Amino acid sequence: MRIGIEDLAVAYDARRVIDGLSVAIEPGSVFTLLGPSGCGKTTLLRAIAGFVPVAAGRILFGERDVARLPAHRRNIGMVFQDYALFPDKTVFDNVAYGLRARNVAEAETRARVGEALERVGLGTLADRVPAALSGGQRQRVALVRALVIRPDVLLMDEPLSNLDTKLRHQVRETIGELQREAGITTLFVTHDQEEALAMSDRIAVMNAGRFEQVGTPAEIYRTPCSAYVADFIGAANIVDATIASACEAGGLATAETRGGRVAARCPRALPAGAVRLVLRPEDISLAPAGGGDGLAGRIARRQYLGSRTSYAIELAGGLRLSVDRSGEGHDRFAIGDTVALLLDPARCLAIAP
Ligand SMILES: Nc1ncnc2c1ncn2[C@@H]1O[C@H](COP(=O)(O)OP(=O)(O)O)[C@@H](O)[C@H]1O
Ligand SMILES: [Mg+2]
Repeated sequence: MRIGIEDLAVAYDARRVIDGLSVAIEPGSVFTLLGPSGCGKTTLLRAIAGFVPVAAGRILFGERDVARLPAHRRNIGMVFQDYALFPDKTVFDNVAYGLRARNVAEAETRARVGEALERVGLGTLADRVPAALSGGQRQRVALVRALVIRPDVLLMDEPLSNLDTKLRHQVRETIGELQREAGITTLFVTHDQEEALAMSDRIAVMNAGRFEQVGTPAEIYRTPCSAYVADFIGAANIVDATIASACEAGGLATAETRGGRVAARCPRALPAGAVRLVLRPEDISLAPAGGGDGLAGRIARRQYLGSRTSYAIELAGGLRLSVDRSGEGHDRFAIGDTVALLLDPARCLAIAP
């Protein structure tokens, strides 16, 4: 089902923490809200679920505006960071809860719950209580409990944040598989950029109740619209620079940095003057000094990381850049070596300061 958010505002008392948000989410896709703590992710999810009232605007599930309907009439499935399972009900009864509340016949309830638990490898644990399960198992129970009612929309608020790294990857895969099988439109909340890149069809990077940028993972990573987004998604060198003349959208500009002159791509039109350059550490190549006409630098720090080496490089004017090299000979430079930094203009972005 398609979800449309139109000019949505949500307030606590009189303070609007979400104001004028609009977005369309394609049926069957995973749409992720990404942003730091306090930016309004949970508030937006809770407004869509019907747990906090909407101050203005519309929330469309298909053609239907649900913004003023009570939560139980919205047909949503929700998964929380802390699982929110009923502690004194068995796994089976936890999952059956929503079906029983909807007066589904007991035989069908048994069949659907049994099948759902089998699907996530919990068939033999149906009679346990949540306290007798691991964190990963509990979150799988919460996931099938949300999906077994066949909701129109699946809402997930940091569902992986309480799990350790290995479990997080496993449950992440389970979520992806079940979401695709059910073809269910999903809103996923995280503050973890790697999780957002891995799980999403589209990502909204949030900043203080607004969408700073909405796009595919590759668009957000490759063409961040601001230093805020560039910094939040992946590692980025963000460098102050100036351009002598205006640059049209998609054009190349010549930018002066403290460390020297570089060519940069402008995804959006920029006037002459101050700009910021966004340089991903893996997009900067290194050659021995004199081996090309790149910027001159000196290796100040070096971390060998197995599949790659991470360097900190000092340039003229006190400019310092992080550079990640992988592939053959990635660890060949030593602290103190002088090097030439080679930038691909297509991978050096100039954005508004
Ligand atoms: N129940 C509440 N009452 C008043 N203010 C709240 C309430 N819940 C959240 N807030 C405030 O709303 C803002 C957004 O919070 P939240 O949606 O929880 O952010 P996030 O999930 O991105 O961490 C924060 O400033 C927070 O302090
Ligand atoms: Mg939250």
